[in-house]
Amino acid sequence: MLVEIEKLEQEIQQDFHNIKTTEQLENLRVQIVGKKGKLTAYFSALRDLEPENKKQVAQKLNVLKNHFESLYEDKKQTLDAAKLSAQLEQEYIDVSLFNTLKPQSLGHPIAQVLDKIVDYFINMNFSIQSGPLIEDDFHNFEALNLPKFHPARDMQDTFYFKDSLLLRTHTSPVQIRTMETHSLPIRVIAPGNVFRRDYDLTHSPMFHQVEGLVVDEMGKISFANLKFILEDFLRYIFGDVRVRFRASFFPFTEPSAEVDISCVFCKGNGCRVCSHTGWLEVLGCGVVHSNVFKAVGYENVSGYAFGLGVERFAMLLHRVNDLRSFFETDLRVLEQF
Ligand code: PHE
Repeated sequence: MLVEIEKLEQEIQQDFHNIKTTEQLENLRVQIVGKKGKLTAYFSALRDLEPENKKQVAQKLNVLKNHFESLYEDKKQTLDAAKLSAQLEQEYIDVSLFNTLKPQSLGHPIAQVLDKIVDYFINMNFSIQSGPLIEDDFHNFEALNLPKFHPARDMQDTFYFKDSLLLRTHTSPVQIRTMETHSLPIRVIAPGNVFRRDYDLTHSPMFHQVEGLVVDEMGKISFANLKFILEDFLRYIFGDVRVRFRASFFPFTEPSAEVDISCVFCKGNGCRVCSHTGWLEVLGCGVVHSNVFKAVGYENVSGYAFGLGVERFAMLLHRVNDLRSFFETDLRVLEQF
């Protein structure tokens, strides 16, 4: 009998080796230690043995049984772990799948247009500057050649705080802050929010501007440079349009100009949007006034500056006629962009 038990032991060893699934393992368990299992049968057979043999055989059987159980546990653990990782592999969640169900947002239309504007100037080697939204009188007005009681202050309806602080009415104070902290050459744009007391179809109390400022040694920067870059920029944004410079006035530039593009709606033939002029005003610009340089202590320099309203660009690009729809956070509107 001892010989048979040893044979069984080898057999079991071999069986474990061949097992690949939990089902096979379970079958083996039943075959060996189940009610009618081979090992169980040997235990029952003990009963009929002579007492002197019994002890030896029983010991051998117990050793084999323990051995079987530890092999069984080991095998079960490896199979379970493999099964789990196979299952995880199959059931993992593909988070990117969501994209195919819901189109990814391209961002707010104002942000889209702003990105495009900024891209142009980054490619033209401008860097980006910013300044505070709550400004002081000096940066928003005084240093920009707008002394107290200057009539041009009325052009911009200002929100005031105490202590001559205010919400900036344009991004031009960033011109001053940039010159205060940088040396030549200066080649920057300053995108940002601005605030005015205004609210109708084409005005909102908060809107966005992009300021531009280029300054270098006297004689290096001229109106011609300004004209070139703005024409190129406006064609980049609006496509095939005509561009014209119209003499105008800003306290901080001299000479100053307003820039028009041929109407994007009627191609310049005249329509309601362009008030039948064929032209749309899109930005203000000019050669930086000497008083502005004086205010920041610059000497022997020349430069140009420009400023544009992002909402106006977005309205023209997307043919939106009520600017307020940009700010009403109505998804039915925003999803169209
Ligand atoms: N700051 C002016 C405005 O808000 C725009 C401007 C900027 C004009 C720079 C000329 C030069 O309307």
